[in-house]
Amino acid sequence: NRPISQALIIFGASGDLTKRKLIPSLYKLFIQKSLPENFILIGASRTVFTDEQFRTKSTEFLQEEDQNSIEEFKKIIHYQPVQPDNIEDYQKLKGRIDTLCEKKNIEKNLIFYLSTPPALYTIIPKNLAEVGLNKEEGHFSRLIVEKPFGTDLESALKLNQELLSNFEEHQIYRIDHYLGKETVQNLLVLRFANAIFEPIWNRNFIERVEITSAESLGVEKRGGYYDKSGALRDMIQNHLLQLVGLLAMEPPVEVEADAIRNETLKVFKAFAPFTSDEQIKNNVVRGQYISSRIKNEEIKGYRQEEGVDENSRTETFAAIKFYINNWRWSNVPFYIRTGKKLPTRVSEMVIHFKNSPHHLFSGGKELPQINNQLIIRIQPDEGILMKFGMKEPGSGFVTKPVNMNFHYNTLSEKELPSAYQRLLLDCMIGDATLYARGDSVIEAWKFVKPIQEYWKKSDAPIFGYPAGTWGPHEADNLIEGDEQTWRYPCKNLSNDGY
Ligand code: BG6
Repeated sequence: NRPISQALIIFGASGDLTKRKLIPSLYKLFIQKSLPENFILIGASRTVFTDEQFRTKSTEFLQEEDQNSIEEFKKIIHYQPVQPDNIEDYQKLKGRIDTLCEKKNIEKNLIFYLSTPPALYTIIPKNLAEVGLNKEEGHFSRLIVEKPFGTDLESALKLNQELLSNFEEHQIYRIDHYLGKETVQNLLVLRFANAIFEPIWNRNFIERVEITSAESLGVEKRGGYYDKSGALRDMIQNHLLQLVGLLAMEPPVEVEADAIRNETLKVFKAFAPFTSDEQIKNNVVRGQYISSRIKNEEIKGYRQEEGVDENSRTETFAAIKFYINNWRWSNVPFYIRTGKKLPTRVSEMVIHFKNSPHHLFSGGKELPQINNQLIIRIQPDEGILMKFGMKEPGSGFVTKPVNMNFHYNTLSEKELPSAYQRLLLDCMIGDATLYARGDSVIEAWKFVKPIQEYWKKSDAPIFGYPAGTWGPHEADNLIEGDEQTWRYPCKNLSNDGY
């Protein structure tokens, strides 16, 4: 079931994303024979390269792979220089597509991938439309856009409007690479292919939901970009809220792009909005990593990073407590957090179930209780962990918490496909299920807007946290109840204590 014959044109082809993610993913698809049988890739960017120079440059990250396959793969790669605002260059690009398609017997089904700075997101589609590349009689023309989809509600609305003036919504594929992660998609299967979870997946049985996406790296070489973005825009508005959408949605009527995206949109529309500064102050915590010393190594603080303003108030950590105002989730707090320079790289969702209603085994005493948790591990060590209580061997009824584990890597020898592999292939076959739809992107911006506005105020707090720790202590206080806190996950799910 390979996709039909087509050409992929990558704008921003000389950039990092292309050589680090796109080319390696396309190469994997190539060796698995998942790419269309008749397929070409055309790189486009300002720099002038020959096809051969671009082939060498773009495959730099494939050095470890089999040299013969790389040589075969290189044959599908071509290059065409394009100045984004020069219409003649688009005419030339069109001519090149025509010639290559004819020569290589390729149908003129086209995908344009915008891997460029966001400032070009409107210029390129406009010029593509100008030369008629936004539609081809009897063929498809699709546009893949990388985040950020705007920097706030207003700019996102404007971007949507401009994209829609040159391409139709069904042609636009907004990539959110979190949706391409295998374990994120597994959430749909876990919830809707098993009859045991759905009856308890609601306010009657769930006490709270927690989602963490932690990174151990800092901003590395992306200080310039990151300082204008911050964790709320970089991770929460898109990746984390999309995860909430899948975790909280109602069962869709079918596995089809709009059936699923209609349901996640309903979740976004039901987010309880923040209506006052006081409310934001009590429910949202932002932090910034400060220098620290780990094992005799001096770790730089965020403000000392290259490209970052020395007085920056950009958050490298954010945690939010919020509610979803609908029948299923009424009064269930959702806690999400993300941060850079945390102790480890881990992303997971934790469903905390309510305690048993009668304390049978603790002599009527309230504590200790068994906290049933279902942990859906997105990365690394992808898997699912269920925590529940068992009887300790011996006399009496002493309960003991235990773990039941499923690790993805035991399921098959097969490597999990990377998010870009999955998403590129989906676009090639015309499946937009795992791409964010314009309306849901807007709803997500609506939700974060009051937070963005509050943080612009000079008295809005930002807390420092030493690099290598789990963020500011203030984030712990978001979680209600004595002795309740965030889960502090280990890198390896099997090493997870109770
Ligand atoms: C990107 C953000 O979208 O996601 C980065 O811009 C972040 O700042 C990255 O590091 C995290 O992705 P992953 O797949 O490594 O969890």
